[in-house]
Amino acid sequence: MAKERLGILASGRGSNFQAIMENIELNVLENVDAGVLITDNPEARALEVADHYGVPHQTIEPGERDKEEYEKEIHEILREHDVSLVILAGFMRIVSPYLIENYDKKMMNIHPALLPAFKGLNAQKKALEYGVKITGCTVHYVSKEVDSGPIIVQQAVPVKEGDTVGSLSRRILVFEHRVYSKAIQLHADDKLTVRGRKVKVDADESWKEDWKRREKGFIEHQEKALEEGKVVREIK
Ligand code: GRF
Repeated sequence: MAKERLGILASGRGSNFQAIMENIELNVLENVDAGVLITDNPEARALEVADHYGVPHQTIEPGERDKEEYEKEIHEILREHDVSLVILAGFMRIVSPYLIENYDKKMMNIHPALLPAFKGLNAQKKALEYGVKITGCTVHYVSKEVDSGPIIVQQAVPVKEGDTVGSLSRRILVFEHRVYSKAIQLHADDKLTVRGRKVKVDADESWKEDWKRREKGFIEHQEKALEEGKVVREIK
C-alpha cells in the first residue's frame, strides 16, 4: 500500500499537528508521513513544529486575491508534495468548494465538540453556556457546509462543575491528540467507506487491538507531560 502523505493546514498553535508528528515518530501511525505544512500565519507555532520534525513548510497569505486564487496556490503546493490526505488542524479559514472538490473524502477536520452540536468558532464556550454535561471532539471529512461532513470518529468528554473555557478546552484537547491520529490511520488502512452522511468503519477486532497496543505508546508519552501540567507539549 502506498504511504499516506499528509498535507497539514494550520494557523496557530499546531498542537494537533504536533501530536500527529509524535504519533509518526513513536510508530503509532504506520505507513503515514507528513509531506508539507501550509500556514496562513507567519507567526504560527505550527511552523516550529514543522522545523523540529523536518517537515517542509510554506506560509501563504491570501492578500488581495479571491479565495479560489488563494486556494489554487495551496493546491499547487499540496500537489508538489504528493499529498494524498489534507489535514485541517486549527486552520482558521473556511475552505471553499474549489479545494474541497479536489480532495473529496481526502480532507479531514477536527472540531472540539460532539457534532452536530456547537458548530463553528468557540465550540467549548458554546457547550459551557448551553450547560451540556458531556461534550467532546469529532473528526470528520470536510464537506461544503462548515463542520457538517461525514463523521469518522467521536470522543465524549465530561463537562465538570466549575469548568472554565480553558479547563474544558484542555480536557478535550487531550483526546483530540489521540483521535485525530486514529482517524488518519483508519483512512490510511482503507478502513473507511463513505455512503452519504455515514462513514462505515471496517476495523475488525485485530485492527482495534493492534491500534490500542500502539496508541499506548503515545498515551504514555502524553501522560508524562500531563503530570507536569502540559497538555500542549514542549517541542523537543
Ligand atoms: C483545536 O481545538 C481544534 O479542534 C480546532 O482548533 C484547535 C486547534 O488547536 N479546530 P491546535 O492549533 O491544533 O493546537
